[in-house]
Amino acid sequence: MKTFEQIAELEKRYLLGTYNRYPIVLTRGKGVFLYDLEDRRYLDFVAGLGVNALGHAHPRIVKTIREQAGKLIHVSNLYYHEYQGALAEKLCTLAGSSFGGSSMGTSRAFFSNSGTEAIEGSIKLARLAGHRSGGEAKCRLVALRGSYHGRTFGALSLTGQEKHRKGFEPLLEEVTFVAQNDIEGLRAAVNDNTCAIVLEPIFGEGGIHECSVEFLQGCRAAADRHRAALIFDEIQCGLGRTGTMFAFQSFGVTPDMVAIAKPIAAGLPLGAFLAKEEFASAISPGQHGTTFGGGPLACRVALEFLAIMEEEKLLNNVNKVGAYLQQELKVVVAKSAAAKEVRGRGFIQGINLAIPARPIVDEALAEGVLFNSTQDTVLRFLPPYLLEEKHVDKGIRVLKKLLRKKRKAA
Ligand SMILES: Cc1ncc(COP(=O)(O)O)c(C=O)c1O
Repeated sequence: MKTFEQIAELEKRYLLGTYNRYPIVLTRGKGVFLYDLEDRRYLDFVAGLGVNALGHAHPRIVKTIREQAGKLIHVSNLYYHEYQGALAEKLCTLAGSSFGGSSMGTSRAFFSNSGTEAIEGSIKLARLAGHRSGGEAKCRLVALRGSYHGRTFGALSLTGQEKHRKGFEPLLEEVTFVAQNDIEGLRAAVNDNTCAIVLEPIFGEGGIHECSVEFLQGCRAAADRHRAALIFDEIQCGLGRTGTMFAFQSFGVTPDMVAIAKPIAAGLPLGAFLAKEEFASAISPGQHGTTFGGGPLACRVALEFLAIMEEEKLLNNVNKVGAYLQQELKVVVAKSAAAKEVRGRGFIQGINLAIPARPIVDEALAEGVLFNSTQDTVLRFLPPYLLEEKHVDKGIRVLKKLLRKKRKAA
């Protein structure tokens, strides 16, 4: 087997320099644990940045992949296969009656390969619907400062952070940014030329900041008043992470479209957006599509993922263990001057530190724990839905130890 140095050197020579990786090579996983080249074990609070909701090597997922790979991995979207419609029906049903539900056929899905593509598709659909109801001028988008929606040009144009946009301009010009939870600013930004308001109910990469219910209600009202689409980007916070299947169900405000991705196919690339029929009906064959999106392997695995979520009652676990995680993080804040605030809910939480977070992540590796940092000072927790209280205890023990060490060194 190659050594760490050989693997890292090869990447350094041949890969585009886009990633600043941690110095470990992961070789396998089981449940909430990952293992490196030397078979050292790591407790996983990152879950592939929110992807591995069922942890690693879940037996039912492994079995489903094996079975389906032996039958049919890919077919073109020129043809039918048995899983895409079934998955769309399941997701639309889970989105619930406020979203249209599936039995009345009042909401529809489109499958992509990634989160950013789900966002692209949703704003393309919003443009079509906008043009249909308000002519060419109804093309403007409203998004939030501090948000993150992905790296393609459309998604990047909606991303309200200079550090991601810099160097790639010009981006879409028709985007107006408002501050999160600024209801007056939002009202002023939305008008009859707005085709969509796009937001994450909980900023993920942006540092775990929640939109207030009042703000989301204000967005809903503004979108209704001006016949714009309200689009929720639930790519990071959706599909169970907040303790409900869709994050909008946790906030009690229903969007017109919702973009999802990360955990949906248990690690296989799959994204989707769902749209209410009044927007979905704006698109015709040939106006959007993808080669890979919604293939039989990914869709069948996604159906299995959703079945496991239900049968293993994982939402209950997210709520229970998420509340415990929050309680324990709050104890850390109460006891350590280096920790300032806990934000988020369920299995999308962050602790804002008074010191840089990356060194904590680096040092946690030696303690056998994978943490993640974002926005310089935030430790972000996106664990697998299988996490138990004893795992939280281990993570908190390590966090406390590292914060104590930093205080002594200061
Ligand atoms: C809220 C949000 N939107 C969009 C994306 C982009 O998704 P992807 O990386 O799958 O393209 C991400 C990825 O982290 C995200 O967190």
